[in-house]
Amino acid sequence: MAKIRKAVFPVAGLGTRFLPATKASPKEMLPVVDKPLIQYAAEEAEAGGAEHLIFITGRHKRSIEDHFDKAYELEAELKEAGKHKLLELVQNVLPAHVNCIFLRQAEALGLGHAVLCAKPVVGNEPFAVILADDLIRNDDKGVVEQMAEVFDRTGASVLSVQEVPPGETDKYGIVATEPQPDGTLRVVSIVEKPKPADAPSNLAVVGRYLLTPTIFDKLEQTTPGAGGEIQLTDAIAALLEDEPVIAYPFAGKRYDCGSKEGYLEATVEYALSHPELGESFRAYLKQLAL
Ligand code: G1P
Repeated sequence: MAKIRKAVFPVAGLGTRFLPATKASPKEMLPVVDKPLIQYAAEEAEAGGAEHLIFITGRHKRSIEDHFDKAYELEAELKEAGKHKLLELVQNVLPAHVNCIFLRQAEALGLGHAVLCAKPVVGNEPFAVILADDLIRNDDKGVVEQMAEVFDRTGASVLSVQEVPPGETDKYGIVATEPQPDGTLRVVSIVEKPKPADAPSNLAVVGRYLLTPTIFDKLEQTTPGAGGEIQLTDAIAALLEDEPVIAYPFAGKRYDCGSKEGYLEATVEYALSHPELGESFRAYLKQLAL
């Protein structure tokens, strides 16, 4: 069965919830302690087997390209100053075998449209979609790797899901599922951002998808849905009619870094477990709580 070798990162969004921080700099470049969100996402994809990282960018996203590019001046200066540890950090943002591809989404027509932009590069193979503002921590095995194992076993598209408070269904794609004899949860329906009263469950799709290339045919036929955008959720609803799709309750802690509160929680918790900062930061928080 085909392996997941390609990961798509839709990064063309405006990040209005973080203005003015995101006025001139992409939200995916917001750091959690010392790494931008997009780097956590890229590392997770690489750990899950992806070798080709496809970024769907828009205007004002140059810094994402620069982040994954070689930084000649910076490297020369660090070298000259004998700062070898920092040099290594800058040079090894990603392992050498990983290839970054940048595609421009000229108009922000929705997540589904962003994914469709990747079709010429993904071709006829399964691929991952990662939304970098859903930061998911699992230090043993990242969620993409967990999902790739489910894909290996089943050959079906996989959506990472999590229970959310019933009052928050209108922030997510929501699935109804049916348990299968092999222990997996099969998606029977999916709907984008339903009001709590209309939601089929409180099981929400968070920002990780493994999809078969059939999704591109479905996306090509998808018309604007919720919010006037071409929704990935609607194309997945069409995919369900042809192929099995699995909902996978991942192991890990998710931080909604698309919201200020989730972003702050991530910052505090990553700082607390940071090898250099953790101890002193914990002491600081304790003192603050007095
Ligand atoms: C997108 C998807 C939604 C999904 C969510 C996960 O929504 O459209 O189905 O549940 O990501 O974070 P957005 O957060 O971009 O509005």
